[in-house]
Amino acid sequence: MQAMLSTAIRRTAVRRTAALPLNALRAGSTWANVPQGPPLTPRYPGITEAFKADKFEQKINLGVGAYRDDKGKPYVLPSVRVAEQKIVEEKLNKEYAGITGVPEFTKAAAVLAYGADSPALSRLAITQSISGTGALRIGAAFLQRFFPGDKKIYIPTPSWANHGAVFSDAGLQVEKYRYYNCDTIGLDFEGMLADIKAAPKGSVFLFHACAHNPTGIDPTPEQWREISTAVKQAGHFSFFDMAYQGFASGDIHKDAFALRHFVAEGHDLCLAQSFAKNMGLYGERVGAFSVVASSPEERARIDSQIKILVRPMYSNPPVHGARIAAEILTTPALYDQWLAEVKGMADRIITMRALLKQNLEKLGSAHDWSHITSQIGMFAYTGLSAEQMDKLAKEFSVYATRDGRISVSGITSDNVGRLAEAIYKVKG
Ligand SMILES: Cc1ncc(COP(=O)(O)O)c(C=O)c1O
Repeated sequence: MQAMLSTAIRRTAVRRTAALPLNALRAGSTWANVPQGPPLTPRYPGITEAFKADKFEQKINLGVGAYRDDKGKPYVLPSVRVAEQKIVEEKLNKEYAGITGVPEFTKAAAVLAYGADSPALSRLAITQSISGTGALRIGAAFLQRFFPGDKKIYIPTPSWANHGAVFSDAGLQVEKYRYYNCDTIGLDFEGMLADIKAAPKGSVFLFHACAHNPTGIDPTPEQWREISTAVKQAGHFSFFDMAYQGFASGDIHKDAFALRHFVAEGHDLCLAQSFAKNMGLYGERVGAFSVVASSPEERARIDSQIKILVRPMYSNPPVHGARIAAEILTTPALYDQWLAEVKGMADRIITMRALLKQNLEKLGSAHDWSHITSQIGMFAYTGLSAEQMDKLAKEFSVYATRDGRISVSGITSDNVGRLAEAIYKVKG
């Protein structure tokens, strides 16, 4: 009887609700004042939709932010498959990790980034994080709470689209420093140095450790040395974002040069690491945040505060992806296999860059395309204008962001010729 009554009441309520005009419903809603937000990735307006809607079979998607194999398919690294299989067979329990995550993982992640013989290891406060974004966010929260100087961070122009939001949402003021020179399609090294020198002493600077996103333009080792000197003279604090170690050049040590040089020079710094790209663990969300302390005692204090920050955010991180990464990093045979696979991904990207340039030159393009091969990592800044990018999409079914950035991982042996022709027809 009770059940029948409540069903009748529910039906009446539904009928009444249905009769109300939509406006009235909205006004009465708890969330009536929540405004529609802008798209989250303004660099990509409509690309995915336009790509999906295009029925042309040979359409090319150069907007993807993840590695694709030479058939254009997502790639799970064989070393990851082996590690995962082993973990599954071990039938480990699903208990919580500690607040800072899986210890075998963080220990190995630190060695990977800083180097096995790094003086930083004994005084490193490190925590597992929700991939690179989570690492940046923990770092931002830590700076916001404890950085003794201005709660400001300088990021390059341009930078990864999410940097500004991550830092400002954590309460830091975001400032910009010069990085890209659109005339040379290269690094604005003088501008960058000048901005480092002009910033108030003791500021926080964010550096992409390698494979700068979105430009693909990195300082040379010599330029990093000069940057290090300028940062040191100004007493700035460095925040390294290393989302592509190994993925950039194919060599994990070469890609860690800037970070390790800064450590060797005695800089005060912290680091966000991601295993999304170099292990292809995108959706597993594996990363780490670390701070190089000046002593083991300071390390312990920082560590305690990182725990206090993380605990109310998400208690502790997920274990599965971290176990995979730890398995790979601590099993010598698997580690060697992984190194070869990372190099394989980096080499495919490097080969596609070279092929694109060659094809453009073969077509007789009068432009200098050397930036395509001198840039590094997943993304290439072509130097094409927004109008030219629109033309590529409308007339040639080639989709990428309007800032002229293309994801090189979307280029394959099969489509590189057609891509070069399209670019040639648009740009000459
Ligand atoms: C420069 C940079 N930092 C951080 C990230 C964070 O990625 P994730 O959170 O997937 O590790 C990315 C991803 O594209 C990136 O390009």
